[in-house]
Amino acid sequence: MISILIKSFIWFIAGIVLVVVTIFQPQQLAAAPAPVSIAQGNQVQSVISQGLSANPAQLAPLPYAYNALEKAIDAETMKIHHDKHHKAYVDNLNNALKKYPQLQGRTIEAMLRDLNSIPEDIRTTVRNNGGGHLNHTMFWEIMSPTGGGLPTGNIAQEINKTFGSFENFQKQFNTAGGQRFGSGWVWLVRNPKGQLQITNTANQDSPIMDGLYPIMGNDVWEHAYYLRYQNRRADYLSNWWNVVNWNEVNKRAQASRSST
Ligand SMILES: [Fe+2]
Repeated sequence: MISILIKSFIWFIAGIVLVVVTIFQPQQLAAAPAPVSIAQGNQVQSVISQGLSANPAQLAPLPYAYNALEKAIDAETMKIHHDKHHKAYVDNLNNALKKYPQLQGRTIEAMLRDLNSIPEDIRTTVRNNGGGHLNHTMFWEIMSPTGGGLPTGNIAQEINKTFGSFENFQKQFNTAGGQRFGSGWVWLVRNPKGQLQITNTANQDSPIMDGLYPIMGNDVWEHAYYLRYQNRRADYLSNWWNVVNWNEVNKRAQASRSST
């Protein structure tokens, strides 16, 4: 009799466990985070049209594998650059904005365009880390494993018209990148008159701080190239063209036309 009671009790407990697992497992699955996918690369579309969010700032995954850009940049550099350097800009920005939650509703672009409106105690932090987040978000998107080659679309015609030829444009761009002393960026921008021009900036400064629209830019901080190229920045600048994503550059060029 006792053994029947024990067996019944065990079956009763097993039944309860089965019911609990059946009821709660689908909810747990539904609550699980969505897998990271390449589709998140589409975020750049909203970045262009709506601005980059600071509520909070988020590090998007790379839209390709670390070793996907070996034609120009080695996997270890990509990993450290994205996972450590870019992440630090995002974290530093979010930490600074904790003290001023009202600023989190503004886009990074809006803050950089009007830095004087940022409280003085975090202004430099927002400039460096908001700029770093904005610049690197663009950087990953304008490169692709299937990139390189001649420019395509409207930007190809505009480059020829402005600089005479793609070769001239590359030469001027690379020269401007080589001339940036220390750390910074080299850019193709659209000015308020609607014209293309090449410029460079120090540190993480964005061209939008000067009223210019950044269409494409290359990172010439040593952290972007030193493992493979050491002091040979010119070689890095030259190889970088092998991974330029002209489709994305065209999207940004289109967005820049409607902004001027
Ligand atoms: Fe960088």
